[in-house]
Amino acid sequence: MKTSLLSVLFLVICTSAYADGLRALRKDRIQAKKCETCHARTSSGIVHDWENSLHAKARVTCIDCHEAEKTDVDAMAHEGVYISPLVTPKDCSRCHPRQVAEFNQSLHHKASSFVQDLSGDRAGDNVLAYHIEGEAAAINGCEKCHGSVVKVKDGKLDPDTWPNNGIGRINPDGSKGSCTACHTRHKFSIAEARRPETCGTCHMGPDHPQLEIYNESKHGVIYASEGHTWNLDVSSDAWDTKHHRAPTCATCHMSGIGELTPTHNVSSRLSWELERPRTSKTDNWEEKRSAMKTVCLSCHSRSWADNHYHQFDRAVELYNKEYFDPIKQGMDALYAEKYLTKDKFDEMIEYKYFEFWHHEGRRARMGASMMAPDFTQWHGFYELAKHRLELKHMMQEIREEKDKKDR
Ligand code: HEC
Ligand code: HEC
Ligand code: HEC
Ligand code: HEC
Ligand code: HEC
Ligand code: HEC
Ligand code: HEC
Ligand code: HEC
Repeated sequence: MKTSLLSVLFLVICTSAYADGLRALRKDRIQAKKCETCHARTSSGIVHDWENSLHAKARVTCIDCHEAEKTDVDAMAHEGVYISPLVTPKDCSRCHPRQVAEFNQSLHHKASSFVQDLSGDRAGDNVLAYHIEGEAAAINGCEKCHGSVVKVKDGKLDPDTWPNNGIGRINPDGSKGSCTACHTRHKFSIAEARRPETCGTCHMGPDHPQLEIYNESKHGVIYASEGHTWNLDVSSDAWDTKHHRAPTCATCHMSGIGELTPTHNVSSRLSWELERPRTSKTDNWEEKRSAMKTVCLSCHSRSWADNHYHQFDRAVELYNKEYFDPIKQGMDALYAEKYLTKDKFDEMIEYKYFEFWHHEGRRARMGASMMAPDFTQWHGFYELAKHRLELKHMMQEIREEKDKKDR
């Protein structure tokens, strides 16, 4: 009797998990209990967070995530088992294969390749990346957002490379990414991931101020005024407009809404590559734009959404043609005619040019994409106009000075 009740219970747990696409293969429970008891003393914060998670409720234990094979490069012997402090997307994929597969399709997944390849040369445009001054700056700056290459030295994690929760971290098991960038351990909450502040740890600042842009937008204002009353804990398959009156970052870029299925591929709804020096369309951009519009249409009319894109596209074209193209032409001519050295960032104009597209140009375009008029105008097009003039003057001066010297 007892057994059959237990097995019914087990079956219920299994089928609900199965329905969710989970393959919960839980590990040794006696061993797991030991981890919890001892760590409740040595690191109580970790155990409390875990106890408040859905994982604890589903009895996904320390060992389910941390156990390692003896032969893993990052394995360490610990209290009679092999564990690793690293828990990578590969480990999560045992139970969450869909989320990991989607994440692997996104630009987030590739985010550390640009930092590692310091030329940043993704599309033959070698002025893309800023030349990093000093390794410590890269470790504490770029790599915290983009991700490090985690290395193991003498059986220990190389302190230059870990701790690191960068979005595209390259792990010793070959997987890329860090799920804790949005779901901090050991609570692994979806409510936290849906909040704009979570994305804002990386998506902020002078060059990609998405958080500030959002805060300025009507959507962000509504979130600020009543977001604290929303139930953000609703599971992905049920989360919809009845739970939130305005979208957060996650709603537009990730959530399922109306007919749209949720996705961990943040690239899948973008029609433009706004981060690039010159904006270009993404592959299959119509499909991606249509997916994003489906989000808008759950709260707005078709003409509202279409006309927003009409206005936004005009801002992108204005930037490309009137601001970026003439300045890029001027810079190319300086390089071709040897007025500038081939090295990047050894001449002041190179910093100016970098800020022109990387800071101001992005602010103008991204402000327009996400409804923040101040970023579009005063942090964007105004600065572009002022610096377009200044850059033209600098180009002229560089030519005159060198010509004088050469004479
Ligand atoms: C008898 C006590 C005890 C038991 C049992 C125990 N741990 Fe630990 N664990 C510790 C202590 C102490 C540390 C070191 C804490 C520190 O670095 O400050 C530690 C460290 C760790 C670390 C971090 C390692 C690092 O290099 O950062 C992880 C991960 C970990 N334990 C997981 C586990 C898991 C999983 C289990 C169960 C298989 C477990 N522990 C069982 C006491 C224990
Ligand atoms: C759902 C998976 C999961 C479970 C369950 C889990 N952890 Fe972790 N743990 C992680 C992840 C992810 C990290 C971040 C490690 C990294 O950088 O890859 C981590 C990091 C750690 C660390 C080192 C980092 C730090 O903050 O000091 C310790 C220690 C640790 N976990 C202990 C535990 C203990 C004890 C339990 C059980 C009470 C537990 N973990 C349960 C996923 C898990
Ligand atoms: C052994 C299986 C297993 C592993 C490994 C595992 N999870 Fe889970 N996870 C679950 C189960 C079971 C649930 C609860 C599902 C439910 O209730 O719908 C869950 C739920 C979640 C949720 C949703 C929480 C919420 O608030 O709704 C997140 C986020 C999550 N896991 C992230 C992770 C991450 C990140 C990792 C790797 C660091 C990981 N999980 C590893 C089984 C696992
Ligand atoms: C730990 C840092 C970090 C966090 C947190 C983060 N991102 Fe990102 N995100 C990045 C980086 C870095 C890139 C650029 C990757 C690249 O270009 O390789 C990026 C790129 C993007 C892109 C552009 C993708 C493309 O194809 O152009 C979108 C959209 C995006 N993130 C949305 C989000 C959302 C929404 C959240 C929160 C739910 C979020 N991000 C959280 C670091 C982060
Ligand atoms: C505060 C977090 C953060 C820091 C620090 C940071 N980045 Fe980024 N980076 C991002 C985000 C977010 C994006 C995505 C911008 C977008 O899509 O709008 C990005 C985009 C990029 C891109 C564009 C990639 C593409 O798809 O075109 C490159 C290259 C880049 N960063 C290199 C660097 C380098 C090099 C450093 C250090 C000098 C650095 N980043 C520091 C967050 C950061
Ligand atoms: C850029 C931020 C971000 C990253 C990185 C991220 N997630 Fe999520 N995750 C979210 C958001 C936002 C949601 C809620 C989506 C929604 O609104 O439906 C979510 C939901 C989930 C859920 C719950 C799904 C459900 O059906 O309720 C799981 C499981 C999950 N993530 C696992 C992962 C795993 C595993 C990784 C690492 C590969 C990961 N996440 C990385 C933002 C992120
Ligand atoms: C109302 C929906 C909406 C909200 C809310 C929203 N975004 Fe966006 N986001 C968009 C649209 C639309 C675009 C432009 C899409 C395109 O290119 O077609 C965009 C573009 C982006 C890009 C630029 C990608 C690139 O090409 O470089 C990033 C990064 C981004 N959003 C991140 C965020 C973050 C982070 C938040 C929250 C702080 C956020 N978004 C809030 C709709 C939204
Ligand atoms: C969950 C519902 C919801 C979603 C999804 C949503 N919006 Fe909104 N949006 C609102 C609400 C509510 C307002 C405030 C309307 C008002 O001013 O009365 C608003 C306002 C706006 C405004 C007016 C901004 C201003 O400054 O007055 C624009 C433009 C807009 N949304 C465009 C979009 C676009 C484009 C999308 C899709 C990428 C989108 N919205 C997705 C609910 C939503």
